[in-house]
Amino acid sequence: MSHADNDAGTRRDFLYYATAGAGAVATGAAVWPLVNQMNPSADTRALASIFVDVSGVEVGTQLTVKWRGKPVFIRRRSPEEIEAARAVKMEELIDATAENANKPGADASDENRALDEAGEWLVMIGVCTHLGCVPIGNGAGEFGGWFCPCHGSHYDTAGRIRKGPAPRNLDVPVAAFEDATTIKLG
Ligand code: FES
Repeated sequence: MSHADNDAGTRRDFLYYATAGAGAVATGAAVWPLVNQMNPSADTRALASIFVDVSGVEVGTQLTVKWRGKPVFIRRRSPEEIEAARAVKMEELIDATAENANKPGADASDENRALDEAGEWLVMIGVCTHLGCVPIGNGAGEFGGWFCPCHGSHYDTAGRIRKGPAPRNLDVPVAAFEDATTIKLG
């Protein structure tokens, strides 16, 4: 990919998120001038859950779905990816918290990031915690997980920030298996 292509992708991602954010703020201001500020969870409650069929996701691949206006990465990790993630020591991490909405306050061990006990499934909001670009997946970056080309943030195979300006691990949203092949988001 040329440098020019990279720049174009960056600009598009920024514009997309900037526009979506501004729209949400404007709507909120018009509808609830005060309540929205005082009770931010009101609009969270109004947003729907979705069910994702993951039966077609092969080991070592990733499905990206759009949820609440953001990309969500659903990765079915290979044994090598799981092993690499579980071999990392806590002191090597920039952000030592799981950033997992299902496990508030937990540490960033791989077990606290993955959806299932075996660690095969990893579900994350696909938005870089630096300035909101969408990281590239499928083993990208120096740690074999995801790479954000906007300013060079490297995430490992558990989506934890390992190098670059991003301050936090990729967020894990509320998610659960509804049945053997369906993941519920929200
Ligand atoms: S937005 Fe990802 S590194 Fe800056």
